[in-house]
Amino acid sequence: MRLLIGVTGGIAAYKALELVRLATRAGHQVRVIQTPTSERFVGTAAFAAITGAPVLASEFEADPARGGYPGDAAADWVPISHLALVERADVYLIAPASANTLAKLAVGIADNLVTTAALAADCPLLLAPAMNNRMFLHPATQANVATLRARGVCVLEPASGALASRGEAGIGRLPEPAELLAAVETAHRETDSSWEGLRVLVSAGGTREPIDPVRYIGNHSSGRMGYAVAAAARRRGAQVTLLSANVTLPTPAGAEVIRVGTAAEMLVAAERVFPAADVLVMTAAVADFRPARPAAHKLKKTTVPLTEIALEPTTDILARLASQRRPGQTLVGFAAEHGAGAVAYGADKLERKGLDLVVVNDVSRSDIGFDSAENEVTLITATGAETVTKASKAAIAETILDTIVALRRGTAPAAPAVLSAGVADGGPGGVA
Ligand code: PMT
Repeated sequence: MRLLIGVTGGIAAYKALELVRLATRAGHQVRVIQTPTSERFVGTAAFAAITGAPVLASEFEADPARGGYPGDAAADWVPISHLALVERADVYLIAPASANTLAKLAVGIADNLVTTAALAADCPLLLAPAMNNRMFLHPATQANVATLRARGVCVLEPASGALASRGEAGIGRLPEPAELLAAVETAHRETDSSWEGLRVLVSAGGTREPIDPVRYIGNHSSGRMGYAVAAAARRRGAQVTLLSANVTLPTPAGAEVIRVGTAAEMLVAAERVFPAADVLVMTAAVADFRPARPAAHKLKKTTVPLTEIALEPTTDILARLASQRRPGQTLVGFAAEHGAGAVAYGADKLERKGLDLVVVNDVSRSDIGFDSAENEVTLITATGAETVTKASKAAIAETILDTIVALRRGTAPAAPAVLSAGVADGGPGGVA
């Protein structure tokens, strides 16, 4: 997402630094503009260092990046800074928004870069007020907030607690940077039309490979991760086909579900749907081996020692589909790895299977991954790796979809790489 952040004068301006750091780390392209008063609290150099882009504090200043966001090509002319920056933004957030700025915005005053950009904004505009509680609760400020909300501006509720002035407490604190980022991402999703009409194929659950008619080799996948991805993609407007292996969860509204049992059945269904898909997300735990000769009748425990069940490899569905990919398709694989080295093994899968994104989860932990409500993942792309801390599978799914959007736009995060080359096949996670 191209995120424009306006910083106005207030002690909470220092928290905007953390917000910018989080947004940049999450892969968003961030530009910052400041009011002259805000520079008394935090200088432009700090924001510029974090965003890797120039920070403007005057509408008369030429933008050295010519309206470009990090990773964008700059215009080949000199645009009017505040207009170019806000025109390209997906979301404009003013944080902190002082009482003075709220008042100006309520009556349409445009006397600095931050307020001028707000007046020119076509994208969602979010304001995060931060000020003393008496200032916030003053009828004038409350009337300004009401006016702005009535006009469709999203004015976030300040938090309560200790305030900057010694001994004072009450409403008026800037919400925590992570909450601000979540609000911005939600606003962006609500207006993001990039999923409209996109065909998304998601696999979920765990395959079961028969030993005989009543026994199988299976795994603990509940299907929650895949169902969360499918539901999130549907919410964003995509056409979703869900290959569901032995999952008992309710079907995500609007998704087409194809139920399969074994790896072989999943392969057949996947090869049928994949050619028309724009995005593939393989969350399913597909068996790597299956009994070579499943018995036609239930085996008697007296007659067959377990050592006689011979196994044969299944087809690697993801690798097979990757070998058939056409331009415009985005391929996402998961990697269920154990403990140390998980990220390096995931990076190996990215390269070996020819994927755009690998989502690594450490399945040695019982609180995430298989059959749990939450997950913690590392997202690996060709440009780097980013860890998403423990969160609900629904939240993880949203982050995966945000990364897919960035990949399809060619703006995937250039996070610091933590990948190590030369991982041998057959490491702790196997070669799947
Ligand atoms: O379903 P949940 O309870 O919510 O649990 C989620 C999960 C732990 C199953 C999920 O987060 C996860 O890690 N899924 C991948 C499990 C897995 O099989 O990982 P793998 O490292 O063995 O396989 C790597 C990739 O190859 C996966 O995308 C897998 O779908 C794919 N694969 C594997 C084997 C095979 N024969 N064909 C494949 O396509």
